Amino acid sequence: MITELARNVYWVGIVDWALRHFHGYELSTHRGSTYNSYLILDEKKVIVDTVWDPFRDEWLDTLRQVVDPAAIDVVVANHAEPDHSGGLLALMRHCPNATVVVSKRGAESIPGHYHQKWNFKVVGTGDRLNIGASELVFVEAPMLHWPDSMFTYLTGRNILMPNDAFGQHLASEFRFNDQVDQEELYEEALKYFVNILTPFSPLVTKKIEEVLALGLPVDMIAPSHGVIWRKDPLQIVRKYQEWAAQKPEKRAVILYDTMWQATRRMAEAVGDGLAADGVAYKILHAAVTDRNDALVEVFRSKAVLVGSSTVNNGLLPSLMPILEEIKGLKFKNKIGAAFGSYGWSGEGVKLIEEHLAACKFPIAAPGVSAKWQPTADDLEKCKALGRQVAKAVLV
Ligand code: FEO
Repeated sequence: MITELARNVYWVGIVDWALRHFHGYELSTHRGSTYNSYLILDEKKVIVDTVWDPFRDEWLDTLRQVVDPAAIDVVVANHAEPDHSGGLLALMRHCPNATVVVSKRGAESIPGHYHQKWNFKVVGTGDRLNIGASELVFVEAPMLHWPDSMFTYLTGRNILMPNDAFGQHLASEFRFNDQVDQEELYEEALKYFVNILTPFSPLVTKKIEEVLALGLPVDMIAPSHGVIWRKDPLQIVRKYQEWAAQKPEKRAVILYDTMWQATRRMAEAVGDGLAADGVAYKILHAAVTDRNDALVEVFRSKAVLVGSSTVNNGLLPSLMPILEEIKGLKFKNKIGAAFGSYGWSGEGVKLIEEHLAACKFPIAAPGVSAKWQPTADDLEKCKALGRQVAKAVLV
């Protein structure tokens, strides 16, 4: 499958329909993904990013339909994660003298992965490489999302290849944004931003301003995953600016786990309190909800309410990975609250509040505990908790 993006510029990537987990098992990818690799045929023949190692032979066969891999002069490695650099070893066996273009940090990470003495060229922001009629312009993009990340821009065709930025884990028979279901596209673009880029939101804002200030015309944004933005390509840049501002919606998410349904009943009563004041919410049972999808709900929501039974003087274990991720993703502008049932020791609510404090979420209302199954009075307290949080959401 080859797609011509512009004259002499080709998508030569791989569509991975079966991928369901990424970064090992850290990220769910319900709609598969693509590994986008780009070929530019000018006086110099250039590859921008390769594909994940398991697909390297298939990728080289695709490439051969257009060019002999031995004829490649320049390989740009925008980022070292193996979903983009995994084809380097196989490719470089065919063109061992090709120049491998890397960022300053890429000069550490690419050799760190492959231990080869290739002909490296280290570039920084604003550096240009003449490839014939066109030039490649490089922009370092540290922490979008690795320290080595780099954007490559092709003059003449006005194509920005920003690697992971602006990508989506979305396998499709189509290559361009205007060809796919817009709801699916934006669901995946948002999930990608939330789970990968949220902690670097201030850097996203700064980098976008820096790239826009370069005044380079952009006809296409061709990321390393998912579809290419050709229709109104800056729409995804505007979305990133909006997401990076981290202004959550006036809504709530209730995350809980339960042993014998007591904490579930409390979660629903909290929800009744939120609804009474007109605040929309979702209740997510942590033990049966995809963690990465739950994090999208956390991102959207102003209020994050967490409930757990107390077990072994602690919280139910299904909550721990998501609480850990909420802390690591450094969500901003949230408020939190805690609730839960207990039988004997009852530390759950205090522990949740400690976790929320570690996430820097101010506590919007004191937590509610219920011993054994909640009484009608306990459920009223949960409803009152929901109403207090609703008031804080609507401020
Ligand atoms: Fe798509 Fe950071 O790798």
